[in-house]
Amino acid sequence: MSTAPLRSDPAFAREADATDPLRGFRDEFLIPAQAGGNPVHYFCGNSLGLQPRGVGEILERELAVWREQAVLGHHRGDTPWYRYHELLRAPLGRLVGALEHEVVCMNSLTVNLHLLMVSFYRPQGRRTRVLVEDQVFPSDMYAVKSQIRWHGLDPERDLVQLAPRPGERHLRTEDVEAFLEREGETVALVLTGGVNFLTGQRYDLKRITRAAHAAGARVGFDLAHAAGNVPLRLHDWKVDFAVWCSYKYLNAGPGAVAGAYVHESHARDRSLPRLSGWWGNDPETRFRMQLEPEFVPVPSADGWQLSNPSILGMAPLRASLDLFDRAGLDALRTKSIRLTGYLEYLLDELAVARVEILTPRDPEARGCQLSVRLREGARQAVETLAARGFVCDFREPDVLRIAPTPLYNTFGDVRALAGVLAGEASPR
Ligand SMILES: Cc1ncc(COP(=O)(O)O)c(C=O)c1O
Repeated sequence: MSTAPLRSDPAFAREADATDPLRGFRDEFLIPAQAGGNPVHYFCGNSLGLQPRGVGEILERELAVWREQAVLGHHRGDTPWYRYHELLRAPLGRLVGALEHEVVCMNSLTVNLHLLMVSFYRPQGRRTRVLVEDQVFPSDMYAVKSQIRWHGLDPERDLVQLAPRPGERHLRTEDVEAFLEREGETVALVLTGGVNFLTGQRYDLKRITRAAHAAGARVGFDLAHAAGNVPLRLHDWKVDFAVWCSYKYLNAGPGAVAGAYVHESHARDRSLPRLSGWWGNDPETRFRMQLEPEFVPVPSADGWQLSNPSILGMAPLRASLDLFDRAGLDALRTKSIRLTGYLEYLLDELAVARVEILTPRDPEARGCQLSVRLREGARQAVETLAARGFVCDFREPDVLRIAPTPLYNTFGDVRALAGVLAGEASPR
């Protein structure tokens, strides 16, 4: 990846794309077309990733097994369904920095959050509180409040939201640490995002985990906006649990099967309460339920499974994770920092009067997404972008979330977007 000084002329984008070592990966995706036939400029990988070309084929393979083998497909062929989720362990483990037996592909994100809170939110005595970030994704908030009430407690008292300091926009890690030092003995669980969905702030998960453990609390993360976006080392950081979805940066399609991580130190702990179902049971004895009715959890993240998972929901994820493996996580992150840095540079150079960047300026404190406030005429700007073939995510009243993803976005996409926000009359 070139490190030449950034420039705002359109030729720079062409040069950067021509020398991008990952440029071939864009062709691995199906990009929707604009009315004239040109591909859209897609900046919504933070919401729904594009479809990898390999998805059709991998799905058709399983449809053929279903068609031709029906129930025998559970145990026949190259990818028997009985152990299909195991095929995802190695690539998912690499993606989130976990051991293979610490990750499992199952359910959807909020369901996994509930299942893992059952095990890791265990209020006792004075230690009853859940500590979350200020701008929590609403589904997480509903989940946390309902768990607190489930234990007969009161969210008014037992939910703590840590906000940035007055006049600041981002939560400081030292403030999380200071809170936990001061009041940690009342905290049962710390739960934050990996990258905040609204501001794009990336949290220092290593330090938060250390501070939570020093205070005697458990720690879990919602990695919806972090998985496939920023480097993660969940095992080394000793994170207790994490959950993520697969339809954003992981490009596995709408409602695709989600992921969960549980540190191996918990997997063998039979004293941890959990909600159980047959797919969490030892696969060797799973069908001997009449003879061996007692639940024997798999001593790994698999032990938190409930039901047999959707093969058609998991197959696209295999196609997508293959691309991550081929591109390499380090190379993707290098391009991501450059691409988002280019977007930031262009907005500062060309469109500073019209947009205010809300995401941290430090590349280490963010992923690929920049959230920007449109200073005036937000609605009009969003309509102009849509009319010119840009797909971005708008949050009322005036925040645009722009996520240039290194697998399929180009420097040309970014230059074109900045041009529109700068009020340039036509694409240059
Ligand atoms: C940060 C975050 N958490 C949770 C969710 C909810 O995910 P699901 O509907 O898969 O449970 C989303 C969905 O976009 C999200 O962005």
